[in-house]
Amino acid sequence: MRDKLELLKRRVAESEQGGGEKRVKAQHAKGKLSARERLDLLLDEGSFVEFDRFVVHRSSDFGLENEKYYGDGVVTGYGRIDGRLVYVFSQDFTVFGGSLSESFAEKICKVMDLAMRNGAPVIGLNDSGGARIQEGVVSLGGYAEIFLRNTLASGVIPQISAILGPCAGGAVYSPAITDFIYMARGTSYMFVTGPNVVKTVTHEDVTMEELGGADTHAGTSGVAHFVCESEPATIAAIREIFRYIPQNNVEDPPRGPGTDPRDRRDEALLDVVPDNPNKPYDMHDVIKRVVDDGQFYEVQRDYAANIICGFSHLGGFSIGIVANQPAVLAGVLDINASLKAARFIRFCDAFNIPIVTFEDVPGFLPGVAQEHGGIIKHGAKLLFAYCEATVPKLTVITRKAYGGAYDVMSSKHIRGDYNVAWPTAEIAVMGPKGAVEILFRKEINESDDPQQATDVKVAEYTAKFANPYIAAGRGYVDDIIDPRDTRPRLIDALESLRTKRDRNPSKKHGNIPL
Ligand code: HXC
Repeated sequence: MRDKLELLKRRVAESEQGGGEKRVKAQHAKGKLSARERLDLLLDEGSFVEFDRFVVHRSSDFGLENEKYYGDGVVTGYGRIDGRLVYVFSQDFTVFGGSLSESFAEKICKVMDLAMRNGAPVIGLNDSGGARIQEGVVSLGGYAEIFLRNTLASGVIPQISAILGPCAGGAVYSPAITDFIYMARGTSYMFVTGPNVVKTVTHEDVTMEELGGADTHAGTSGVAHFVCESEPATIAAIREIFRYIPQNNVEDPPRGPGTDPRDRRDEALLDVVPDNPNKPYDMHDVIKRVVDDGQFYEVQRDYAANIICGFSHLGGFSIGIVANQPAVLAGVLDINASLKAARFIRFCDAFNIPIVTFEDVPGFLPGVAQEHGGIIKHGAKLLFAYCEATVPKLTVITRKAYGGAYDVMSSKHIRGDYNVAWPTAEIAVMGPKGAVEILFRKEINESDDPQQATDVKVAEYTAKFANPYIAAGRGYVDDIIDPRDTRPRLIDALESLRTKRDRNPSKKHGNIPL
């Protein structure tokens, strides 16, 4: 027995060497960690249980028969994050550049299948040269097996991707189907075709960083949800999201520490909204003053900043926040904001996370670029997402709720559960100036002093329509509240909605306007 144990020990040690010392050194020299070092940071100490460490590839082409590494370039298994079960795979760039073989794909599929069966999240740490060239179509088949599992798992278990190296070609589509993508600044890249192919096809000169680096995907394409300064920071950020999300679609999200008093009123909320309705303010100030201990885990911070999305706790309840941001483009809804918020809302709805909406929106963004870019179908995604969501939906209108955007932003008419307005709210078809220009154009043009005539009409309109009382008189908002009470009122509403039961009609799936 002892000699057999010795052999096992040697083989285990061999499996932990990846592609060898030289390649590990090269990996470190690029500022990257090894696949196992990343798992050590990700998982609770000593919790990792590895599968398939002795798997090797089956290829015999291009000299591969003489080069085999235990594990074949991906470390898989399960472990714990703050005691909670997660399934993981960590691609090892030191073995054939982390490229995906048949065996490699089978290992990933195994943990994905187990995660689905056991109702636990999957976290993929990606660092790969893509399909293993020597395996040809077998490798492509392996990718497709993963894509299928990503799709079937979507909305059942949370799926998280970290991009910690190259991620090229069709390989990007597995992370793209998952719920959240994290990238590390300076060392991670995603593109369907790299700079060389781009140069050949379109004659554009572009660097890897410009084409598919972390900042490009966080700020321009919107592909990445989080960008972090380093790999350890990226992995720490992944651990953090687990404070807000549940294990699967039939469990509740975890409770926050809940030490912030539930009945805490906030005096400063009286002064956040400026007296001048056209003056911007930062909606983060409202969010941070209302939620537990000011803690806000923002998603896609650098993309479509005219809308804010992120996770928080309120009275210990995990919530998803969607908020118009008056400090950016006056908080208008445009294509990118609609896409960003729609996807976030659908995640929250799939995973039983109540949605709290803070609303100050002048409407949809006018313009040829927006119309030709499809604001109709993209704005409809946001509307669809809010309409179909059956989790508790709470809305606070802080200032403007104009036009179609009033309907879209979780209004009572689309099953908002608890909708309140601050006294500063203006709920109407459009803002006073626009309305007056349309309704009284002839009168104003014919008057001796058009400016004064406009001012009079604007004042009349403002007094009549730019307030929350007409909506409240119809029951379109449930109450008009003192802004200082926002936190206790929302917590109380969340408490009352714990037992909410709402269902959509039975169907295969809806046809969200893609
Ligand atoms: C096999 C690969 C490989 C691959 C890299 N290697 N990519 N082996 N298949 N796809 C090996 C290299 O031979 C090398 O082996 C080691 O990994 C490290 O690679 P380097 O090139 O030395 O590293 P680096 O300079 O950092 O460049 C990394 C890279 C580059 C940018 C990823 O290797 C590269 O461009 N690889 C090919 C990328 C690609 O086109 N893949 C196919 C995409 S299409 P040694 O022995 O020297 O250590 C695709 C289809 C997916 O993936 C389909 C899904 C639908």
